[in-house]
Amino acid sequence: MTQVPEKPVRIVVAGCGNMAHAWIRHAQERADCRLVGFVDLNPLAARAMAEKYQVPDAVVGNDLAGILNQTRASLVFNLAIPEAHRPIALTAFAAGCAVMSEKPLAANLAEADEMIGAAREQNLFFGVMQNRRFLKQIRSFRRIVDDGIIGKPGTINADFYLGPRFGGFRDLMDDPLLLDMAIHTFDQARFILRADARQVYCHAFNPPGSWYRGNASAIAIFTMSDSSVFCYRGSWCSIGYPTSWEADWRVSGSQGTAVWDGKSMPWAEVLKPETPNAQAAFMPEVIRVDARDDGSGREGHDGCLDELFDALLSGRPAETDAADNRNSLAMVMAAIESARTGTRVTID
Ligand SMILES: NC(=O)c1ccc[n+]([C@@H]2O[C@H](COP(=O)([O-])OP(=O)(O)OC[C@H]3O[C@@H](n4cnc5c(N)ncnc54)[C@H](O)[C@@H]3O)[C@@H](O)[C@H]2O)c1
Repeated sequence: MTQVPEKPVRIVVAGCGNMAHAWIRHAQERADCRLVGFVDLNPLAARAMAEKYQVPDAVVGNDLAGILNQTRASLVFNLAIPEAHRPIALTAFAAGCAVMSEKPLAANLAEADEMIGAAREQNLFFGVMQNRRFLKQIRSFRRIVDDGIIGKPGTINADFYLGPRFGGFRDLMDDPLLLDMAIHTFDQARFILRADARQVYCHAFNPPGSWYRGNASAIAIFTMSDSSVFCYRGSWCSIGYPTSWEADWRVSGSQGTAVWDGKSMPWAEVLKPETPNAQAAFMPEVIRVDARDDGSGREGHDGCLDELFDALLSGRPAETDAADNRNSLAMVMAAIESARTGTRVTID
């Protein structure tokens, strides 16, 4: 059991950029939390956030360790750029604070292990935001797979094609698609299959017209621990015919296929029951089965934060606990290594 903080949970926000708004709004809705500090490399950004959300008593600045000490904080929201996740988390753990972090957990696996180790040593909660698994539709999609109506999954495909112009840190990253976005889709694949990746072969490239410095497109083939094969095709500089941010999915199993376009309710086509020799037919008859609505819980950031806070306050690891989330980051890192070396990479 991890340490359970006293209520109200005293929160310091570290990293006051775009993502901070959703986290701050969530914290302000909760009666069991209090925002006590805002930290950013740029103290003006920290000040602006405290003013926007009308927290006049909050301590603001760029000295995280000092502010944690001064505010007697018990939880840090780690919302800075990926490279800053490690120093922020280690400072928080050293001050005895739990950490809830934006994805990706860390900029690489060595850093992730160091951070997970530091949390464990102090028996502190460490959870990660993976908002794209907290959606009714993906939960309904996983339920189709869980119910066994498509049989044993053999192939799982995800297509992700979008062209957002963010500006800022993503334009300068070596692997913006794989490190900053594919972590969501890889984590979703683990979620849907309840399986981890064992091996990957990946080709990453920067297609014509890309406005990113690093590779904005990738195709990766993973062998999963349930023996299925997960094929990811993605681009972050794709103009026209966009997929959803949740990706466009197909799971092909021994008895049928489940599909989800990332926007509407998923459904499946499965072998028509009680058809003699159905498997032997040239094109076997199939029937459509609509997903059952898995309607519990809120969606997106609020859904994931509900789970993170419930876990924190009951002293249990969250569904997106950092130690488990490491398996999603491992997929990203192995895909990047495969793309750089041109070899198939084994994932521990
Ligand atoms: N879950 C999602 O859907 C989602 C969406 C977008 C971004 N994110 C993640 O959220 C994080 C932040 O992204 P963003 O879009 O808000 O970025 P941003 O550039 O808008 O904000 C980052 C902020 O962190 C600050 N910062 C940098 N280094 C710091 C340090 N050492 N200490 C304190 N502050 C520091 C910057 O000054 C900036 O204000 C990233 O990890 C990103 O991958 C998640």
